Amino acid sequence: MPSPYNDIVLEHFKNPRNTGRIENPDGKATEGSPACGDMVSLYLMVDPETKIITDIKFESYGCASNIATGSIITELAKGKTIEEAKKITWKEASDALGGLPKIKAHCSVLAVEVLRSAILNYEEKHGLITSKEVTTEEIVRKRLKKVMNPIKGLDMVATHLVKEIEIKDGVVRILIDLPADHQFANSIKEDAIEKIESLWDIDKAVVEFTD
Ligand code: FES
Repeated sequence: MPSPYNDIVLEHFKNPRNTGRIENPDGKATEGSPACGDMVSLYLMVDPETKIITDIKFESYGCASNIATGSIITELAKGKTIEEAKKITWKEASDALGGLPKIKAHCSVLAVEVLRSAILNYEEKHGLITSKEVTTEEIVRKRLKKVMNPIKGLDMVATHLVKEIEIKDGVVRILIDLPADHQFANSIKEDAIEKIESLWDIDKAVVEFTD
């Protein structure tokens, strides 16, 4: 059977550029695709003066399209300012790869989203966000929709893991419907804390388990 992928995609899939992780990155994000349950993480280093992306790495748990798009998108973003990198579209990524099968569009969208989220994470951590909306339960819930539940391959809100959210004096308390010793409890907890503590008016996120 002929491969659905062209030679450029296959080359990037076999020899992906910029894979791995960066310890203590300036910005990072993990995104999951509701369409297939795959995940991708991205790490950034940014020059504080010029705002140029000096280093970028990704880890994909997705398919060939996702790995190839992660590879091309990190190539496209490296050396650009964060403002320029934010404007990279999945269409550009897919064009740079010589086209992806239509059914695989969500895989490249996922790679582009994780780049934008990592830039947002950088901006939030460095006080560069200008719209200062007060954090509400809805905002917290929206953030938690970006935390994957690896048991189901969908986000933790869609899979009803979030039992309660309480916001008080800059502290967000989240109750998760899982036993504390569950094999994924810690990774979900860390991811949720990271997503919530980057909100500008939140000092601390506390994650508790029902059991
Ligand atoms: Fe999941 Fe491509 S099928 S990322």
